[in-house]
Amino acid sequence: MDFKKLNNNEKIPFISFGVFDINPEDTKKAVLDALDVGYRSFDNAQVYYNEKEVGQAISESEIPRDDLYLTTKVWVSNSGYDKTMKSVNKSLEDLQTDYLDLLLVHVPFGDYYGSYRALQDLQKEGTALSIGVSNFDPARLLDLDMHNDVTPQVNQVETSPYYQQYGANEMMKKLGVAHQSWGALADGENNLFSNPILVDIAEKYGKTTVQVIFRCLIDRGIPFSCKSLKPHRMKENIDLFDFKLNKKEIEKIRQLDSGEDPFEEYFSAELVEDFCSEIV
Ligand SMILES: NC(=O)c1ccc[n+]([C@@H]2O[C@H](COP(=O)([O-])OP(=O)(O)OC[C@H]3O[C@@H](n4cnc5c(N)ncnc54)[C@H](OP(=O)(O)O)[C@@H]3O)[C@@H](O)[C@H]2O)c1
Repeated sequence: MDFKKLNNNEKIPFISFGVFDINPEDTKKAVLDALDVGYRSFDNAQVYYNEKEVGQAISESEIPRDDLYLTTKVWVSNSGYDKTMKSVNKSLEDLQTDYLDLLLVHVPFGDYYGSYRALQDLQKEGTALSIGVSNFDPARLLDLDMHNDVTPQVNQVETSPYYQQYGANEMMKKLGVAHQSWGALADGENNLFSNPILVDIAEKYGKTTVQVIFRCLIDRGIPFSCKSLKPHRMKENIDLFDFKLNKKEIEKIRQLDSGEDPFEEYFSAELVEDFCSEIV
């Protein structure tokens, strides 16, 4: 597995297996299958409600902790310093680990400044090797960076062929924050997997269009999180290190970028209302 170096000299694997939207009863098998296929990095979150099952799978696999990379994210209902501290303890317990490789503030809502201050302290004490945020647009990222001691190591944001985030990527590069992608496949919307630009490139390398999408991220220096419950797709999504896109191909794929979030989801007032209704 290839890694990207972070601004604190720690690293992040280019490929992580994400466990969003996997039922708790299916999670242990999915993680064991993913480990079997070769995944070693797992992208978790408190709000996925399956950290316990991920912990069980990891413990059952008997793979040494040092060979794994575990991320989790603090949810908005746990925003603020004290609640973040308490909730991270529960995440550690559920994941059956005494440290996290990467700990993120999941969304920029609620008292995320308080949460980020807790993350800085957790990093100081060694509970989190790297810290960062998720779903922070460039303005919020800059603001957070300007008013805290530690520049986030990572910002995990939606990044797909339809929403390539070149502008946000520029700001992240300027600040030294690693851009990590979620939603790389855009749910296959608008016939993404049979798009002629992607098909042409895939045929040239004897790869699938999905592999071209993921490889494009790697060649842009963007680690990503992906998920499938099907072992043959798990394998397909990790089999990316025997080819490389050139600059022209990356530019061609850039033609698919609409510059707008296809789901128009993450910064809507409705969404903030929905998420923040969970804060008690
Ligand atoms: N930070 C955030 O706010 C945030 C938000 C969303 C997601 N995430 C993270 O990102 C991870 C990935 O989520 P995502 O939404 O980005 O999912 P994704 O990996 O883009 O797509 C998952 C969907 O694509 C299908 N799929 C996977 N591999 C495929 C392949 N090779 N060919 C065709 N279809 C394929 C899967 O179906 P099958 O299972 O049927 O194969 C599944 O329905 C999550 O698990 C989570 O860890 C983070």
